[in-house]
Amino acid sequence: MQPDHVRIFDTTLRDGEQSPGATMTSSEKLEVAKTLSRLGVDVIEAGFAAASPDDLRAVKTIAEAVGVTGVEGRPVPEPPAICSLARAHKADIDKAAEAVAPAKHGRIHTFIATSPIHREHKLRMSKAEVIAKITEMVSYARSFCDDVEFSPEDAGRTEMEFLYEALQAAIEAGASTLNIPDTVGYTIPVEFGERIAMLRQHVPGIDGAVISVHCHDDLGMAVANSLSAVVNGARQVEVAVNGIGERAGNASLEEVVMALHVRRDLFGIGTQVDTTQLTRASRLVSKVTGMVVQPNKAIVGANAFAHEAGIHQDGMLKHEETYEIMRPETVGAGTTQLILGKHSGRHAFANRLTELGYSVSGDGLDKAFARFKKLADKKKHITDADLLALLSDELYQPKEFWRLDAIQVGCGTGMPTATVKLTGPDGQTQTSAEVGTGPVDAVYKAIQNLVHVPCSLLEYTVQSVTEGIDALGEVSVRVSTDDNEAPPGKINPQYEHSRARVFHGHGAHTDVIVASAKAYIAAINRILAIREGTRTANAAAGSAA
Ligand code: KIV
Ligand code: ZN
Repeated sequence: MQPDHVRIFDTTLRDGEQSPGATMTSSEKLEVAKTLSRLGVDVIEAGFAAASPDDLRAVKTIAEAVGVTGVEGRPVPEPPAICSLARAHKADIDKAAEAVAPAKHGRIHTFIATSPIHREHKLRMSKAEVIAKITEMVSYARSFCDDVEFSPEDAGRTEMEFLYEALQAAIEAGASTLNIPDTVGYTIPVEFGERIAMLRQHVPGIDGAVISVHCHDDLGMAVANSLSAVVNGARQVEVAVNGIGERAGNASLEEVVMALHVRRDLFGIGTQVDTTQLTRASRLVSKVTGMVVQPNKAIVGANAFAHEAGIHQDGMLKHEETYEIMRPETVGAGTTQLILGKHSGRHAFANRLTELGYSVSGDGLDKAFARFKKLADKKKHITDADLLALLSDELYQPKEFWRLDAIQVGCGTGMPTATVKLTGPDGQTQTSAEVGTGPVDAVYKAIQNLVHVPCSLLEYTVQSVTEGIDALGEVSVRVSTDDNEAPPGKINPQYEHSRARVFHGHGAHTDVIVASAKAYIAAINRILAIREGTRTANAAAGSAA
C-alpha cells in the first residue's frame, strides 16, 4: 500500500556530509539526528557505515539513541527509520546491517550505477552483470533486513528500457523502496516527471513498492524535479537540510516540505514534518557543517521574510497576504524580539531556550548561562539571534583539546603583533607571541606555534549577529589539512578515492579578534576530534576483528 503522505528521507548526514568541509563529529551527527527526529522526518540516512569504523559507530549510535523510541517532541509516534548506505558489495551490506540493527525500523540502502557512462567507464560491467549484481545484493540485504531500498545510480542518464529491467530485478529480489537518483543533476522537471510516470507504467510490480527520488542541484532543478516526481506518483523524496550535498547539493528539505505545505491545493498530499522546526534545523546544520546559508535562500534565509521596498511594506501593513505566501511563524522564524538583559535570571534564560526549541540542561545550561551573563554585561539587550549565536558557540563545538585563555593584539600602521595564551590537551597553559601581516594573521601564527596542527586557511568570514556597535561578531573559517594524520580513507561512495580534508570552525564574541581566534581553535579542535574518533573506532574495530 502506498503511504498517505510523502515520505521525507533525510540525507544530511550522508550525502550532506559529503560536501567539502562539512565533516561533523559523532556528537554533532547525533544532535542533527535528534533534530531531524523532532522535525518528523520518516527516514534518516545516518551515514555510510562501510566508509570507516568511525562512520559505522556514528550510524549505530544514532540507531540506538534515535531509532528505538524517537525523541521527545517528535510529532509522530513511531521513531524514524534509520538507514545506512551500502554499495552493492557484501562487505558494505554487512556493515550497514550491523549499524542499523539496533533501530526499531532499520533500512539498508544499496546502490549500483546503471547509466552507460558509469557501466563502461566506472564499473566496466555489462548490462547482464549489473542486473545479476542487483539481484544478488538486494537479496543479500534482505537476508538481514525487511526494509531494503535500491538505487540505480545515475538513473537520470540511464536508458529507460534498462532502468525497467534493473528495477524489476530489484523488486523481485525484495526491495520495497525504489529510489531514482538524478545523480548529476542533469534532468529538467518535465522530463524527470515523465520518467517517473513511465516507470509506473512499465515496471511490473512497481505499485507494491514506494517510488523515491534523489535529485542533485547542478542545474538548480533539484527541488522542481523532486516535486514533478511527486506529481507523477513518487511518495518518498530524498532531501538535505539547507540543500547541502555533493557539488551543488541535494534538494533542500525545507523547500520541498514547504512547497507541499503551501501548495497542498495542487499536490493534494503533504508530509509529516513539523514545519515550525525548520528554521531551527537549518541553523543547527549550518553551524555544525560550517556551510553558511545565503541571505536570499528560500524559507530559511535571513531575508526570506524581509520586505524592503516601500510599496511592499505598504501592502504588508494593509494585508500580510499581499506579499507573503506563508507566515514566518509557520517555519519557526518568528520576528526577533527583545528578550533578555543583565537582570534576567537562569529560569527566564532556560525558558527562552525552550521556547526557541533547545533542550539544554545540566552542564550545557550552566555554561550557556555563564556566557549569557558575560555578554549581558557588555550588551544591553540580548536578542534571539544573540542567544542562538551564543548557544552554537557554546554547545555545538567539537571537544576542546585546546582552549583560548587570553589574547592581546597590537595593530595599526606599524607591525601587527599578537600574544596568545592557550591551555592544551595536557592541561598545561602555554604562551606564544608573533608578528603578522595583520592582527588575525599574527594571532593564527601564534596559535600554530603552540598547537602544531599544520593547516592552510581557505576561507575567513566575519559577520555581525545583530545591529549596533555592541553587536556580537561571528567568525567562520575553513581550513585544509593534508598531513598524514588527516582522516584516512573516508570513502565517498561515488568517488571512492576521495578524502575529507577540509574542516570548519566558528566563534562568536563582541571582539572580532577574539572571535577569530576562537573560530581557528575550533577548526583545530575539529581536526583533532575527528582524528581521535577515527583512532578510537579503528582500535575498537581492530580488537573486535
Ligand atoms: O546521488 C546519488 O546517486 C546518490 C546515491 C548513492 C543514491 O547519492
Ligand atoms: Zn546523491
